[in-house]
Amino acid sequence: MMTYPVIAIDGPSASGKGTVAAKVAEILQWAYLDSGALYRLTALYTQQCGVNPANEDAVADLAVHLPVMFHHGDIFLNGSNVAGKIRSEEISLLASQIAALPKVRQALLQRQRDFAKSQGLVADGRDMATVVFPDAVLKIFLTATAQIRAERRAKQLGIALDTPEFRQILSDIEKRDEADRKRPIAPLKQAADAILIDSSHLSIDEVVEKVILLYRQIEK
Ligand code: DC
Repeated sequence: MMTYPVIAIDGPSASGKGTVAAKVAEILQWAYLDSGALYRLTALYTQQCGVNPANEDAVADLAVHLPVMFHHGDIFLNGSNVAGKIRSEEISLLASQIAALPKVRQALLQRQRDFAKSQGLVADGRDMATVVFPDAVLKIFLTATAQIRAERRAKQLGIALDTPEFRQILSDIEKRDEADRKRPIAPLKQAADAILIDSSHLSIDEVVEKVILLYRQIEK
């Protein structure tokens, strides 16, 4: 079977990897996979179906049958647009919880690989380079300090720094980082052959430029 090149971009939440990955995909005219959205969708579906998130088999079954459609940045679950809904703090925490279940990860594995079936793919997540696409032609680990990531998220939400709301965002980011790093299965970690980019003092466009440059170098 024909295989297509994959660029894997992993990193903690709010590191900017989603925006970077989508822009790189656009420049290369490749497909884009937001793997975190699949975990978020599974979390939302679990909630909607009234399934206990600790029931691994039941959640994995929902993950296999996720009635999802991605369309130009919109995400439809069972026909309704849930692109905004899956970004709530509640769903973020639930997604982190169900992402620690091995059977759920297994259920989403093939679904993720299918995105590279018809063209090149830029995939972002936590385990793109280590588990889902170990043969990716370029592996990036994108990070930034928790403080800077919290500041970026606060800016997006229009929340002032040095407020209880801001401290909550920072604490949620730290909590999620810890959960994603410490889980025994597919934890968030830099692959041995991944290139580290610290975006703390870089703009999104500067990171995009770096990634494209790295890809052009290996393409030669
Ligand atoms: O990237 P994100 O914040 O949208 O991810 C949502 C949750 O899903 C987060 O807790 C980590 C988890 N996740 C994962 O375990 N593996 C991935 N490849 C992507 C996301």
